[in-house]
Amino acid sequence: MKLLLCGSLVFWLATAAGQTLPDGPGKAIVQRMCTPCHGLGSVVRARMTKERWGSVVDDMVSRGAKGTDDEIDQVIDYLAANFSKGAAKTVNINKAGAVDLADALEISAADAAAIVSYRRDKGDFKSLQDVTRVPGIDIKKIEAAKDRLEF
Ligand code: HEC
Repeated sequence: MKLLLCGSLVFWLATAAGQTLPDGPGKAIVQRMCTPCHGLGSVVRARMTKERWGSVVDDMVSRGAKGTDDEIDQVIDYLAANFSKGAAKTVNINKAGAVDLADALEISAADAAAIVSYRRDKGDFKSLQDVTRVPGIDIKKIEAAKDRLEF
């Protein structure tokens, strides 16, 4: 009896997890790799860039999620394909306000505010090079988002 209950619980958990995920390559791996510790609720509600998904999955692996390198790549591709953040939303760095900059470039509010105030003082940015001159901002993040930048 105990065994039966246990088996149906596992079955129920597996189907509950399966229902929330869209079909696609990598789905089975996500179901296996990402459900031992928590449900998939926060996964299916999330919207992230591929880069962000990469770091979330890395974080989960460091917490104990198990998969080969190849499986991990497939999981990241699957998540990025299905739960992407309005991918590649571009933003004009000379026109956008701080909130939009922070959102589109995935930089901190403080960095976005620094960009806006630098722009106010020094005039429009003409290239990525100009942006790198803003004191104190995380240049790596800006460079990672350079495809989303318009001048
Ligand atoms: C070994 C256990 C474990 C496994 C396996 C695991 N996670 Fe997590 N996950 C956690 C823990 C613990 C938290 C809560 C972290 C926190 O609150 O800081 C979490 C939180 C999350 C969050 C929400 C927090 C955030 O950073 O937004 C997401 C999304 C997530 N996991 C995705 C995944 C994905 C995708 C997989 C499969 C690749 C996965 N998890 C596998 C342990 C795990």
